[in-house]
Amino acid sequence: MTSSSTVLLGVTGGIAAYKSAELVRGFQKAGMDVRVMMTKAATRFVAPLTFETLSGHAVHVGDRLRADFAITHIEEGNAADIFVIAPATANTLAKMAGGLADNLLAATYLAYSGTVVIAPSMNTNMWHHAATQRNVSTLRDQGVFILEPGAGELACGVYGSGRMADPDSIVAEVKHRLQVERKTDLRGLRVAITAGGTREPIDAVRFIGNRSSGKMGAALARGAFDRGARVELIKAYVDLPAAPGVREVETPTAAAMYREVIGLLPDLDVLIMAAAVADYSVVMPTGGKIGKSLEDLSVSLCPTTDILCEVALKKRPDQFIVGFAAEYGMEGLARAREKLARKHLDMIVFNDISRQDIGFNSDYNEVFILTPSSEVKVERAQKETIAEVVLDHIARGIRTLRGEPAPAG
Ligand code: PMT
Repeated sequence: MTSSSTVLLGVTGGIAAYKSAELVRGFQKAGMDVRVMMTKAATRFVAPLTFETLSGHAVHVGDRLRADFAITHIEEGNAADIFVIAPATANTLAKMAGGLADNLLAATYLAYSGTVVIAPSMNTNMWHHAATQRNVSTLRDQGVFILEPGAGELACGVYGSGRMADPDSIVAEVKHRLQVERKTDLRGLRVAITAGGTREPIDAVRFIGNRSSGKMGAALARGAFDRGARVELIKAYVDLPAAPGVREVETPTAAAMYREVIGLLPDLDVLIMAAAVADYSVVMPTGGKIGKSLEDLSVSLCPTTDILCEVALKKRPDQFIVGFAAEYGMEGLARAREKLARKHLDMIVFNDISRQDIGFNSDYNEVFILTPSSEVKVERAQKETIAEVVLDHIARGIRTLRGEPAPAG
């Protein structure tokens, strides 16, 4: 992001419109220039003069679209580095998803070719309505970044989801978008990433599992997509909002994950195995629920197929394969290096899972990126930042593997 980034802020007619004034200030504090566009309905909540005073620019309001009026302002909108709509009402979401252009803001969305971030805000029943959820999903598929509303007491007195994301997190998301957009070094590559922890059934309701949240894998998926890759997230019990543009597949068990990875392998350029895959599964899971008795209970386990070892047997030499090593204690670094060699990987990312402040189910990680010829430590940081550094190494690694030159710039 540069100090001269321009944000086009679209404000629509919801009670959260008053928070958009704070948002203007937040963008400015982050060094951005803000232009504001309002729907007519939004002006009934906050006067355009508020935004004109805060932004230092004229505010464009458009209800019915007059072509002569719209063209200049749409062009002006297109000059912005990013288009943020906050709050975005159910009505505006529906217009955007349906391609309607009957007001200035909706027409600008259709004409805008850059990144769009929206922060919906509405009554909780409206948010959960199938029509709204369908519109949200359509917009995600169109590449719009959606900051889902949080839960809390809403203006209508009801408690539930629908409250606009807070201005600080909207500013943080916009800064993140502006930063990552400058990198396109994975453009054209097809990348599959595994995330989460598989669960191996013992009976119909019990399982052997682990504490993986999928945050590391999801951060990699989002980062790879931002850099231009076509991304598949192969996930097991990941309870996180879907990343825009990333295709997701549920693979609850090690066997299901194995089938998905092996099925996709011929089409992949890069595979990143960040999931915590069970090493053992139950030999004969019971169909119903095992009842309690006073007897000891033995469950017989057998090793699962090691997905990475199978990938090593089947992969082409131009495919770049990355494993993660979840090791207990720093002495595990040597074991990670051994895994790198035994699983014939191009790279392995070591993390010390004995620590509570990183690794499993934490927002943070600290890793060593190992390749057959190098070892780089990445200090403790948010998983999004760790993912960026790992992806930097992968982008360079696959170019070297394929003998391609570094991209210009
Ligand atoms: O999901 P989070 O809460 O964000 O936590 C992230 C993480 C700690 C789970 C992640 O950073 C991580 O370390 N993932 C790898 C977990 C793991 O299974 O490590 P491992 O050392 O047991 O396995 C080594 C590699 O072999 C891994 O890439 C694993 O995906 C792969 N494997 C394991 C078993 C199996 N049957 N097949 C495999 O391919």
